[in-house]
Amino acid sequence: MIESRVAILEVTPDNVLSVGLESMDATNASQFSPNGAIAQLRHRFEQALVAAFGDELAGADPLLVPSSNPKFGDYQSNAPMSLAKRLGKAPRAIAEALIQNLDVSDLCLSPSVAGPGFINLTLKPDYLEARLNAMHDDDRLSVALAQTAKRIVVDFSSPNIAKEMHVGHLRSTIIGDCIARILEFQGHDVLRLNHVGDWGTQFGMLITYLREVAPAALTTADAIDLGDLVAFYKKAKQRFDEDPQFQETARQEVVRLQSGAADTLRAWKLLCEQSRREFQEIYDRLDICLTERGESFYNSLLADVVADLEQAGLLVEDQGAKCVFLEGFSNREGQPLPLIIQKSDGGYNYATTDLAAIRQRIHQEHAQRLIYVTDAGQSNHFAQVFQVARRSQWIPATVQVEHVPFGLVQGEDGKRLKTRSGDTVRLRDLLDEAVLRARADIEARLQEKDHQESEEFIAATSQIVGISAVKYADLSQNRTSNYIFSFDKMLALQGNTAPYMLYAYARVQSISREGKIDFQNLGSDAKVLLKEETELTLAKHLLQLEEIIHLVSQDLLPNRLCQYLFELSQKYNQFYETCPVLKAEEPLKASRLMLCDLTARTLKLGLSLLGISVLERM
Ligand code: ARG
Repeated sequence: MIESRVAILEVTPDNVLSVGLESMDATNASQFSPNGAIAQLRHRFEQALVAAFGDELAGADPLLVPSSNPKFGDYQSNAPMSLAKRLGKAPRAIAEALIQNLDVSDLCLSPSVAGPGFINLTLKPDYLEARLNAMHDDDRLSVALAQTAKRIVVDFSSPNIAKEMHVGHLRSTIIGDCIARILEFQGHDVLRLNHVGDWGTQFGMLITYLREVAPAALTTADAIDLGDLVAFYKKAKQRFDEDPQFQETARQEVVRLQSGAADTLRAWKLLCEQSRREFQEIYDRLDICLTERGESFYNSLLADVVADLEQAGLLVEDQGAKCVFLEGFSNREGQPLPLIIQKSDGGYNYATTDLAAIRQRIHQEHAQRLIYVTDAGQSNHFAQVFQVARRSQWIPATVQVEHVPFGLVQGEDGKRLKTRSGDTVRLRDLLDEAVLRARADIEARLQEKDHQESEEFIAATSQIVGISAVKYADLSQNRTSNYIFSFDKMLALQGNTAPYMLYAYARVQSISREGKIDFQNLGSDAKVLLKEETELTLAKHLLQLEEIIHLVSQDLLPNRLCQYLFELSQKYNQFYETCPVLKAEEPLKASRLMLCDLTARTLKLGLSLLGISVLERM
């Protein structure tokens, strides 16, 4: 009945995604940023419809939605259908009458009635042109800052010292970094926290083993090369499993660590230092910034958690352990499930640390939004921790806490990703392989084109392509589902992949080289002019950037941004195929160059929010 930390961490895939997500209810409330241009536009149309309704139809819903098909304009109102009964008239007749009084001429072509009685609204090219000109002049590409900047903690990556930093941690690192980048771009004050597992029972084993094999290492830094700490941990674990005497010593060592014995602490620091170096290598390669604040940081705050729960009347003794009985969680026998706060031996659990962390983040860090990025296997853990924190009144109504779960990374066989020999894949090897394969692709393409490039160019380009491919493959999936890790798919030049996106960007840049165009200096009379269908389609898509970023900042689904960028490059290609750019006459030439530039800048910004840097040529 009693769940230990290990049991929480190693939940089987059956439990994955079984719990409703705390985050979703809280965040879906506002779909559009109230200060966003799209929200303003909608609001304006709704007001115009309400005015056209007049007193007779006061209170009726304008039922405004974006049109499902560009054939029907940009927005449509379905109100005439719903008003037919009330007015005893045919919807088409109602629609015809309404558009007589509908005043949107500053923004739209004349409204039209379609089908059984929809009112279609089509944005005027000169309105779109004005917005694109403004976007072109703005370094932020017309993406407004959040109305109120918040203090936000994003807890991500968070591997465990001396244990494998596995692909699950890689997902957390990539998704968490993207979320942090988006929130930072909106102007929020983001604290990126690495909640590393640096206080677990693994240290008892490790230190006991170190005392046996290399006592010098306990007193002198770098006395031995611990090499691969994970391999070292495996040996320690083997000793632990074989030898009861060793087990006992290891247990005592944990107690010594937690009570602050100087020699044990020194050994602990040494081990953490070693792991930190290994993690940092991965973060450097992935261009990830994080503040390490491991579980040990909260050690001195744990006793207060127990005391305060006691005072709140929530703490119950069960078989010597101090627990809180959870609402809505039961064990196999249908009994209420306890969350163990303090074990019978006095030790604390993973959940206790998270309870202390919530309090510290709200009270000391003044966080108004707390985001935790881990695999979906920890959904129960977070739901339980949040519940206890809520019931103890530790989370003010103004503070939002969200678990951001993600699915498993699977091999091409659909099983958990493994090496050919069945071992866990080391992240370093995985990134190396992505870069090597990217390099092979680049070299093959160069050979095909009989083109020479410097070694420096090839090395730098394959780094970016390889790492970007890994990141993009992860971010372009809806994070809540499992995804199949495939080097071939993520490195393909076609499809929704990083190489495709990077290539799309480089192609736009090649226009400036080819036509000797300085995009930064298109002349003061350069203005966007929208004539062709493909120009209008591209223009409307460009203008959705702000809304997409806002949506991702709410539901924390980076795949929306990937999809947006992918569609942008497709719409750009359609434009480029139908509209001559360098061969066009002025003033169209300047206008089209502006559309090219806007596309490139939007791709660059969007990719940078995904943690991907662009290549000027590839
Ligand atoms: N160290 C944990 C793991 O590897 C993840 C920690 C996530 N963050 C947290 N505050 N619990 O599974």
